[in-house]
Amino acid sequence: MTVNTREKQWWKQAVVYQIYPASFCDSNGDGIGDLPGITSKLDYIASLGVDVIWICPMYDSPQVDMGYDISNYEDVYRPYGTVQDMETLIKETHARGMRIMLDLVINHTSDQHAWFKESRSSKDSPKRDWYIWRPAKYSPSGERLPPNNWRCNFGGGSAWEWDELTQEYYLHLFATEQPDLNWENPETRKAIYASAMEFWLKRGVDGFRIDTVNMYSKPPTLPDAPIVDPGTPYQPAGMIYCNGPRMHEFLSEMNAILTKYGAITVGELPCTPDTSRVLQYVSAKAKQLNMVFQFDVVDVGMGKTHKFATPPRNFTLPDFKAAVDMTQALIRGTDGWSTVFIENHDQARSVSRFTDDRPEFRVRGAKLLALMQACLSGTQYIYQGQEIGLVNLPKDAYPIENYKDIDSTLFYDMVKERYGADNKVELDKAFDAVQYLARDHARVPIPWNGQAKYGGFSEAAEKAGKKVEEPWMKTHPLASEINVASQLNDPDSVLAFWRKMLRFRQAYAHLLVYGDFKDLRPDDKNLFMYLKEPDHGAGDRVLVVLNFTTEDQTWNVPSPAELGASENPELIPIMATHSGMRKLGQLEPFEGQVYLVR
Ligand code: GLC
Ligand code: CA
Repeated sequence: MTVNTREKQWWKQAVVYQIYPASFCDSNGDGIGDLPGITSKLDYIASLGVDVIWICPMYDSPQVDMGYDISNYEDVYRPYGTVQDMETLIKETHARGMRIMLDLVINHTSDQHAWFKESRSSKDSPKRDWYIWRPAKYSPSGERLPPNNWRCNFGGGSAWEWDELTQEYYLHLFATEQPDLNWENPETRKAIYASAMEFWLKRGVDGFRIDTVNMYSKPPTLPDAPIVDPGTPYQPAGMIYCNGPRMHEFLSEMNAILTKYGAITVGELPCTPDTSRVLQYVSAKAKQLNMVFQFDVVDVGMGKTHKFATPPRNFTLPDFKAAVDMTQALIRGTDGWSTVFIENHDQARSVSRFTDDRPEFRVRGAKLLALMQACLSGTQYIYQGQEIGLVNLPKDAYPIENYKDIDSTLFYDMVKERYGADNKVELDKAFDAVQYLARDHARVPIPWNGQAKYGGFSEAAEKAGKKVEEPWMKTHPLASEINVASQLNDPDSVLAFWRKMLRFRQAYAHLLVYGDFKDLRPDDKNLFMYLKEPDHGAGDRVLVVLNFTTEDQTWNVPSPAELGASENPELIPIMATHSGMRKLGQLEPFEGQVYLVR
């Protein structure tokens, strides 16, 4: 008999679908996605087998960082709609039996938020201390320097900005226009909870995806970061400013409010490679967060000194598998919980990163990754467009000028500055990195219909005879090949496969969602072969075999001991990416198979 003692919860078994408002669906033809557009697609989302939607920031914002720079938590960015449109979206989501999470961005605000304007106005402002202000340092030769050597998260500049008016620096871990709030001040924290959290909890939202959740508490002395990039004065400092001393005190405060509303949470947890540290956030006993997003998997293949400082595909399959193992190991023998995700609005498309996006392989690659995820433990997250197997923007059809994201453009500018705007070799290297890793790939408008204007992004407006503007980002050049309409009724499509995978995952939830993960061949450069076993006691197991190459592969059935079985167990095929089972031990390019081990 299979016995799982791991505690069951609705949100552990849930599938969360992430929506990026600007690029999901445009209802009125202005070329910008909006809330009524999201509402119009709720039936589509529900039909996938989704339980929860998560909406990226839709708050009022000057959009320096696509809404992660919030100027008013209690209003909606007008091109997306109004608070009333949000109320409708919440109601309609609930009407379909789904729940809704919002993005909670409270490490920083926009520099256009009333709080920061007041803070910046004078050293005596009652809100001066709501942000992190420090005097300048001076070099021996009298040159003015920022308080420490931290690099901000975009481009290569300092995390400190000099403010002429009051002659002090303020801290911004992200863009200059995203000043960090001072969480040390209890009054600030109270205002954050009321404005950013309770305003929306009262309107019925069911939880939050919490942005940069481990950055609120900074180390009091703000020490310099070690020098890893000697070519510049500013150093990556995430390992210093993440997971500061008061983090858990702050999260406990927040949790007291969230509990009142029964709200669930998933926190973004960068720079935390240590599993035992991660567990302090997601252990059920610790009552901090329900779930976190670890960065192990999405960081695979990224540059060491800078995300873009790498040639494309600079990793091996064992690197990738080790990263998956990190997130899966979190729950083995603990009361913690994990998440399964491989894409979001900050990541390039997984098919391009981890499989092969050439036309002959991209559908297989997408199915392989869908099968892999369906068989991993934790709460499953899917990012818009992932369900149709969207791939990165092709280099030859989407020039660098089309990239809009601040992360990409500041990096490209930095390379120009370092090497000269006419250095073709360096600029092409930079373009290669951007084409492989940029956030833009996830942010282009969703192609709903390959036959319609702009990939059908504004289809409803077009049908209603309205004037349709070109979308805010150039349409995906492959929109006529990869789009929702052409996949909806195709049983062999990536979309159909994802639907099947989500049902499959539920059917074997005790092993696929809740089971313990064991990598059986961590060093194999071609195959990912893992076992899912009950977390307690005997019972069936599941064996997953995935071919991550463009070649045929063979494999040997693992020994009974490896499979956790006493004698020669029976291997019953229960799922595969390809139709028609091959001989046991054989796999076509990007084929994946799943067996019940009995
Ligand atoms: C998170 C968001 C990202 C944003 C950053 C700053 O990492 O996911 O999109 O740029 O925080 O808020
Ligand atoms: Ca619109």
